[in-house]
Amino acid sequence: MAKKILLLAGDGIGSEVMAEAEKLLIFLRDEHAFQVELESGLVGGAAYDEIGSPLPEDTLQKARTADAILLGAVGGPAWERLPFDQRPERGLLGLRSELGLFANLRPAITYTQLADASSLKTELVAGLDLMIVRELTGGIYFGQPRGIRTVGGEREGFNTLVYRESEIERIAHAAFRVADKRSKRVCSVDKANVLECTELWREVVTEVAKHYPGCELIHMYVDNAAMQLVRQPKQFDVIVTTNMFGDILSDIAAMLTGSIGMLPSASLNDQGKGMYEPVHGSAPDIAGLDKANPLATILSVSMMLRYSLDQAELADLVNQSVHSVLAQGLRTADIFTGAGQCVGTKQMGDAVIASLGAENSRQSA
Ligand code: IPM
Ligand code: MG
Repeated sequence: MAKKILLLAGDGIGSEVMAEAEKLLIFLRDEHAFQVELESGLVGGAAYDEIGSPLPEDTLQKARTADAILLGAVGGPAWERLPFDQRPERGLLGLRSELGLFANLRPAITYTQLADASSLKTELVAGLDLMIVRELTGGIYFGQPRGIRTVGGEREGFNTLVYRESEIERIAHAAFRVADKRSKRVCSVDKANVLECTELWREVVTEVAKHYPGCELIHMYVDNAAMQLVRQPKQFDVIVTTNMFGDILSDIAAMLTGSIGMLPSASLNDQGKGMYEPVHGSAPDIAGLDKANPLATILSVSMMLRYSLDQAELADLVNQSVHSVLAQGLRTADIFTGAGQCVGTKQMGDAVIASLGAENSRQSA
């Protein structure tokens, strides 16, 4: 039966990178007999403008019935002054929580050809391959109570950092399962010296580790982890951490790879259903200019093929094609360091498909 994929372009460069992903999916459908049905929906500021909500009921319904979801990006200056619950980001957070997408996998891989695009010395980042496993539906992002209130004549903002044992357990299991297929090293990042909530985090992760005797677990405070990531990033393999620490550390990890424009992500629930999105945002400053890097979204398609659609071979093919366009010297502006050819969003997307086509004929020859 055809798999149903919901495409949610969202805002800013979202529609441009999504267009390239859609072309790729159509190519896979037509040329690789990949049975897929594509649907689109509104999310974020685009949905607010049209329907008055960043996560319309219709989108949520489609998301529930889809086998996988691909999201572009949400947000932008046009919506920054809206009340909190109407902002584009609420659309994204609503999808994560409504679908129970608690396990967020953010791989950071430095492609050899791009090592010099990183702000760090080449030898520190060349060959880097780490995976951040970020808890995505709990912690301070969702904790109650939250808000802004008036106390003693002045306003006070407050949020709650809260994790139940079961929430920590399931993300820890997810991280160990990932580590089991890699180099079997997990670093759990917390702030257990200050925050009770993450003291519990450390305790529970240590318990879960006992189920994976082949894996090594170390713990690190988040401030040290941030420092170590830029000091010696290759010491890490799998990092598991809370929602907010994962948000911050994954942006740091992104820069190690040369550009946040290269980073895909998968957000999975306990049935393996997933939403896939580039880690970068909506980049309103370059929206509509054909400058955005579509590779993070294309690599998100590859993760989707692997994790939700049972198409590991196609996922490998897409990855090979990304390697091959980089080897050909094609670069979007964010990863252009002077050598090679600087291309736009569409040309980069076309090149990936052309390279897939070439791969195709090599294989059938
Ligand atoms: C991310 C983004 C989101 C987050 C925003 C857009 C709500 O920064 O996916 O990392 O904070 O989770
Ligand atoms: Mg972020």
